[in-house]
Amino acid sequence: MDTKTTTKETAFLTEENSVRTVNARMGSKISPRMKLVMSAVVKHLHMLTKEIEPTHEEWQQAIGFLTAVGHKCTDWRQEFILLSDVLGVSMLVEVINSRRPAGATENTVLGPFYVPEAPRYQNGTNICLDGKGEPLVVKGRVTDLEGNPIPGALVDVWQTNNDGLYDVQQKDIQPDWNLRGVFTAEEDGTYWYRSTKPRYYPIPDDGPVGQLLGQLDRHPNRAAHIHFIVSAPGYEPVITHIFPDDCRYLNEDTVFGVRESLIAHFKEVDTPNEAEKFGLKNLGQFKPFYFVNWDFVLTPSAK
Ligand code: BEZ
Ligand code: FE
Repeated sequence: MDTKTTTKETAFLTEENSVRTVNARMGSKISPRMKLVMSAVVKHLHMLTKEIEPTHEEWQQAIGFLTAVGHKCTDWRQEFILLSDVLGVSMLVEVINSRRPAGATENTVLGPFYVPEAPRYQNGTNICLDGKGEPLVVKGRVTDLEGNPIPGALVDVWQTNNDGLYDVQQKDIQPDWNLRGVFTAEEDGTYWYRSTKPRYYPIPDDGPVGQLLGQLDRHPNRAAHIHFIVSAPGYEPVITHIFPDDCRYLNEDTVFGVRESLIAHFKEVDTPNEAEKFGLKNLGQFKPFYFVNWDFVLTPSAK
């Protein structure tokens, strides 16, 4: 290892030189990106430590917390991602990596409950297989920035049931693939399907991250939402949600995933005549339902 950058001044760590001293130990066989990232990590960790001036007990507590976060992780549970979610880092990474032109659909967090290869359905299919909750129709178009339809675009959707749980959290209770499906945009870009109105729900809070939320006097609830991944050849896929505008947690989503542009009005439709106005004649025997019109606007892929 090359220690060329270590001088007498950076040989011994002091309170004053700690950042320079640690960063000077990096050798020359380091990638520029690694150097940039680790120099910043050391700088900010040291600044944080100097600002907090933790006691030994507090530092042990911090180590104990991170150890508990690690122990909670399994193939099905990623407590570190949950930690990054509730600290707003997941959303910040999302925002940084999805700068798009005005008018394009904005990204938000993927979350841990996406399952690839959901069933492909005809437009109009009801994906609510447990029959719970208030019926909902979601309809809209997939277009480019100029409003041209993108026929064949795939609209992959998933959401919780009316008890606030995903099918994968209740494997023996909910039907397989409950509230998941992939729809294909028609020639004019239209997609539509039937579901249930989403409701708010708590993120998994039975671990150290849940305890942390409690200590911070924060609730664990995500604002009600429906997840989407919309994709088409030649376009950037968009990972996003829509959020009903009447959810009480809209302004305090525990993972900071709400963006203003993703808030939608879910209209109550309570007469057959009104349903026809929305072009919905095939709903069988009429029952009141919610309706949301939502268009997705994709941008061309970088390559
Ligand atoms: C979700 O929306 O499914 C989710 C996102 C982040 C953390 C937990 C759940
Ligand atoms: Fe979710």
